[in-house]
Parts: sequence; structure tokens; C-alpha cells
Amino acid sequence: MKEYNCKKILLLLLASMLCLFTACGEKAENRQKLIMVTNATFPPYEFYQGSKIVGIDADMVREIARRNNLELIIEDMAFDSVIAAVQTGKADVAASGITVTEDRKKQIDFTTSYVKADQVIIVRDGSDINGAESLKGRRIGVQHGTTGDTYVTANIGEPDRFQDGALAVASLATGKIDAVVLDSAPAQEHVARNAGLHILPTSLASEEYAMAIRKNRPELLLMFNKTLMDMQLDGTMAAITAKYQGEKTKEHTATQSSGIGSWLAHSFEINFVKDGRWKYLLNGFLVTIEISFCAVLMGLAIGFLVAVIRSTHDQTGRHTVLNILCHLYLTVVRGTPVVVQLLIIYFVIFAAVDVSKVLVAIVAFGVNSGAYVAEIIRSGIMAVDHGQMEAGRSLGLSYGSTMRSVILPQAFKNVLPALGNEFIVLLKETSVCGYIALQDLTKGGDIIRSQTYDAFLPLIAVALIYLIVVVCLSQLLKKLEIHLKKNER
Ligand code: ARG
Repeated sequence: MKEYNCKKILLLLLASMLCLFTACGEKAENRQKLIMVTNATFPPYEFYQGSKIVGIDADMVREIARRNNLELIIEDMAFDSVIAAVQTGKADVAASGITVTEDRKKQIDFTTSYVKADQVIIVRDGSDINGAESLKGRRIGVQHGTTGDTYVTANIGEPDRFQDGALAVASLATGKIDAVVLDSAPAQEHVARNAGLHILPTSLASEEYAMAIRKNRPELLLMFNKTLMDMQLDGTMAAITAKYQGEKTKEHTATQSSGIGSWLAHSFEINFVKDGRWKYLLNGFLVTIEISFCAVLMGLAIGFLVAVIRSTHDQTGRHTVLNILCHLYLTVVRGTPVVVQLLIIYFVIFAAVDVSKVLVAIVAFGVNSGAYVAEIIRSGIMAVDHGQMEAGRSLGLSYGSTMRSVILPQAFKNVLPALGNEFIVLLKETSVCGYIALQDLTKGGDIIRSQTYDAFLPLIAVALIYLIVVVCLSQLLKKLEIHLKKNER
């Protein structure tokens, strides 16, 4: 049998990981930066125009940064994470059409409010819903974590919670839900873009928007309030708001009557060609591959290590403490969902440090995958005949070298299909990266969706790309398996 040098492989893995890590951790510390977080699915306050986040909030903070000589960085994340990002110091300010509420005031400080808004009800034309009362017992869509969500939950019943307003409206348009409760301005934008919907004249609640700033940063709060006041007095605020009024209905999807062929062509053009939107998919794809690749390497390294420790303990009784630690690691990692782990690593473990998000994701998925890989490899080790170890030892090899050059290579071959499966799972699991504002493939599709208000094609395209990658990966693994089998002879 061909001898594999496990040490070399392991070293190679570690070295390549180290290179990738240093490449990821490039973010430089700079005092002059202002980090704003938002959820850019909320026109006219924040939305994408090409690859740039624009809108009333974005432009206002841009102006505030300019007037105070700060370099603005805007990050896009799930709405239910923006306040947490400010609270944990991941960002300086959240500007995201955020309604001032007493509960939120306990977590963060609000600037002076700069706009009034209402929660309104969107229904399909011809619907029998005509006000708050008739909402009872109906299926209502909201954006998760918004005041619309809170209102419906408290006063009407459990809503259907969507990642963004556009998805809720798309569900309404296709008849999956009966109404959507949303802020008035974005509701108008959505209705203008979707035929067959309208807004009811009575609103559910009146609110005010303000920006959120971390508690105990009075100097920053003061700066924002002062600049906001200046901008109000000198008319800048009104000018910014006016700029985004009446900008609606730019991209109506082609009417159904024009036939499926031309609808598809039009939809394709809008979703992928216009404004170079395909780049979201390409860039997202590269991020997904980068994270998956590095996480697989990290997972393999951790998995090998843990598996060897655990089986050594099983067979020789050595490394008791390490074995307990490994056991703990396996229990915790396998007992909690990866998206929760990702959020904990980002918001809790790396709360105070400014590291690249790609690195955070690699660590989260690498640590997660390591636990599964460990058990896969351990089962492979256990499946190798006991006699192999005895044979190695009686040839004068130490326990370690028998493990490395006799047991592990055979174990690895045994578990290759299971490992391949784990990598496939990992690749797809990285799709939750959007939770920490990483623009991976899934998020790329989401961004297109938020720009074109089309749920169909972007989702199909994203699914197809994952599918193609997984098929290629399976093919590659199959080849490797055949290759290893040949070496056996
Ligand atoms: N005003 C609502 C709230 O504060 C909704 C805000 C949603 N904002 C967004 N960018 N998606 O809960």
C-alpha cells in the first residue's frame, strides 16, 4: 500500500489556512471612519442603485459624514441585526428607517427624529379587508423585527415574518397571504411596482424615525444631533427627501399578457443584465467559495486532531483532559445551530475586535464543520481492523507513526464519501452569511431581489449556481475515490 505522509498533509493544510487568514484579516484600523449599518430593502430610505446603497437615510448620513470630515462605510444587514450591531459596537450608527420605541431606547440612544411615518395595510385589489378589525384571523405579512411585526403580533395575531418587505409584498401579490403591514413610504413604492395592490386609507400607527447610536457615546450623539439640526435649518434635509420623492415605478415587470417568452427575456434583462446585476452573483459566488474552501480546510484540520485524540483515548486511555475538552466541543457545536454560532462568534466573541467578516465566517463554519468531520474520521478509524495497529506495532513502529502511516490513510479512504457529503452541506450552510452582512451568493440574489422586486429569477439563479457547484464537487470526489482505490492495488 502506498504510504501517505499525514504530517505533510496536515502542515500543508495549516500553512494554506494561515496564508488565507492573513489575507482576510487585512482591515486596517483608522480613526476617521464612520460605520453605518442599514437594511437596504427599504426604499426610499435605503436601497441599492447599482452596487451603491442610496436613499434618504444613506444620503443624510453621507452628508453628516462629509460635514464632519469622516469616511463613511455603509454595511447592509438583516433589519433585526442593525440595532445589535450598534449596541455591540460593530457599527457607529444605524440609519434604517428605525422607529423610535421605548423598548429600543433601552438598548441604544436615538438621535432627534427626522421624519414621521405610518404603519399601513397593503391588500390585493378586490380584497374584503378594509381596516384593522378585518385583519383578525387573516394571514398578514410583515418584515421580521420591525414595528409592523411588533404591532401585528401584539394586536392582531402571529404574522408571517419575511426577511424584507419586498418578499412580503411578493407573497401578497401571488395570493399566499392576505395583507402586508408596512411603513407608508416603502409601501407606496411596492404598490407602485406591483399591479393589483393598493394601500388602505386608514393607518395602524403613527411613528417617528431616528438614527440609533451606541449608549455612552455622547460626543457622537451630539455631533449627529447638531448636524441634523443644521441640515434641517439650511434645507439640506428637505432637498434630500425631495430627491427621492416621485422616483417610483422605474422597473415594472412586463405584463403577464405579453407571453411567457418575452416575460422571461424581460425579467432576465432586468434581473441580471441591467446595471451589471450579474456581478452580485459573481462576487457573491466568489465569497461563498472562499469561505467554504477555507472552512473546509479548517474543519479538516480540527476534525483530524479531535478524531485522533478521541480514538487514542479510546484505545490507550491517554489524553484524558484533552478527550474531555474534545467531548465538550463536540457537544456544544453539534448541539447548536450554525447560524446561532455564527452570530455568537460575530457579536459576542469578536465583539470588541475589528476583524474581517470573511474571517469570522471562516472561523464559524470551520469550527462547526470540524465537529462533524471529527466524528466522521473517528468512525473511519474505528472501522480499520484492530490487527492493523498490532501489525504496525510489532513491526517496531510507535503508536503515533502507526496511526499516521497505517491507520489514518485507510480511515480517510473509508470515510471519503461521508466527508464529501459534509463539504456539500457546509457549502450550502454558508448561505446564512448574510446575517452578518456578508455578501455571499445567497445575499447577492437577495440584493438583486431588493432592487428588482422579482422573487422568481434571482432565487432560481442562486439555486442553480449552488446546484452546479455541488454537482461539480461530487464529480471531483468521485474521481478522488477512484484514484485512491487504484492506489490500493
Ligand atoms: N420603521 C420600522 C421599524 O423601525 C421598519 C424599518 C425597516 N427598515 C428597513 N431598513 N428595512 O421597525
